[in-house]
Amino acid sequence: MDQMTNRPTPEDLTAWDRAHNLHPWASTDSFGEDDYMRVRGAEGVYVWDESGRRFIDGPGGMWCVQIGYGRAEMAQAIADQAMQMPYASPWAFTTGPAAELAREIAARTPGDLNTVHFTTGGSTAVDTALRTMQFYWNVKGKPDKKVIISREKGYHGSTFLAASVTGKERFKTRFDKHEEVHFLPDVNPYHRPAGMSVADWCDAKVADLENAIRDLGADRVGAFIAEPILCSGGVIVPPEGYHQRTRAICAENDILYISDEVVTGFGRLGHWFASEDVFGIVPDMITCAKGLTSGYLPLGACIISDRIMQDLKDNEKDEVFYNGYTYSGHPVACVAALKNIEIMEREDINGHVRRVAPLFQQRMRTIGETYDIVGDVRGMGLLGCIECRPDLSNDTYAAHLQFGQRLDAACEARGLLLRPFGNMAVFSPPLIMSEAEINEMFDIMEAGLTQLSEEYNG
Ligand SMILES: Cc1ncc(COP(=O)(O)O)c(C=O)c1O
Repeated sequence: MDQMTNRPTPEDLTAWDRAHNLHPWASTDSFGEDDYMRVRGAEGVYVWDESGRRFIDGPGGMWCVQIGYGRAEMAQAIADQAMQMPYASPWAFTTGPAAELAREIAARTPGDLNTVHFTTGGSTAVDTALRTMQFYWNVKGKPDKKVIISREKGYHGSTFLAASVTGKERFKTRFDKHEEVHFLPDVNPYHRPAGMSVADWCDAKVADLENAIRDLGADRVGAFIAEPILCSGGVIVPPEGYHQRTRAICAENDILYISDEVVTGFGRLGHWFASEDVFGIVPDMITCAKGLTSGYLPLGACIISDRIMQDLKDNEKDEVFYNGYTYSGHPVACVAALKNIEIMEREDINGHVRRVAPLFQQRMRTIGETYDIVGDVRGMGLLGCIECRPDLSNDTYAAHLQFGQRLDAACEARGLLLRPFGNMAVFSPPLIMSEAEINEMFDIMEAGLTQLSEEYNG
């Protein structure tokens, strides 16, 4: 402790963090030894570390800081609600903010998705969607219709069910999973066989779903869960038409379609939700979180169609929907989401994303054409991924990691935070990012890639 101020020193904080704070996805090798950057301040698209160094926030927190940092009116709204009514049990009461937010969300979702079940984040939203599916088929007298079809490289969260349908890093994990999950193979067009057209690849990926349903039996498959863009899996944009065709197959086979919009929702692609506005589908359920509050407070939601709600209501027995959380509809979190929506509307952040995305995506394409160490660039809206050439990373996990970490270090030294994933770096910056800031971000990225090109090519 600092004797003068009686406050912890930076060395104390590092030691306490190492000793007591188990971060997500920590490696057993570095238990008790990891050195996380301690961030202390943020404004707009920038964050500052403890020593005062400034960085552009390339990942936008964790794909979530849509309206940017340092919004005084957000802080004020949160403080006001915390003083007025910080908590109310959702079992016994409702609050103005919860009711108002449910309506605001329902007004922005596609089709008949009008019922909102509030959760604590993305994983619990996914968990809720999957439990709703189980409840639905049980109530409908089809207890065998429970298999969930998911996809390799999909990420859906960290509760037992959400992790069970996560197709990423699946083979490396030491956790157990729920058994009734079937994974479809990678949909990434970049990984299609040499000589195959994207249209043929799309046919093959749609056939993967058809075959799985045929093999498992439609009477056993309860739901298909898919991110519009597989974000954590490396910003994989499925081939055109894929979502519409898979959606139709689910409808034909009476399989509930869950669109996981935890990342793509709330403006990331320039729309409130991507399912219908970008990909032309109306799912049965949508999950969202992250950008819902721009990361100012934790909150998630599972939005359920009128069709499902009506079917449940029409069933003859008086069943109880035993799902919900102490913090479902937390009034302070709901106020943060309402303020977030108000700011996004007022500043036309969706329109802004649509206006600046062409520059963002053009800078990515230029990187793909310029640096021969880069194998693929891809993205949409303010989402992007740069993947290293496969032969350079030798297709081993360690070499993959090394590329991502080296690029991360090269960019961090120049003032840009990245999110390295194996041999990839992904971007999902705050949505308020200006064209000048986009250029600043990619200029740094290019300097980092120039450094790595020299290192790799000798
Ligand atoms: C698509 C998707 N679903 C679910 C989750 C889980 O969200 P949370 O970490 O808020 O539980 C994430 C998190 O990154 C995600 O990207």
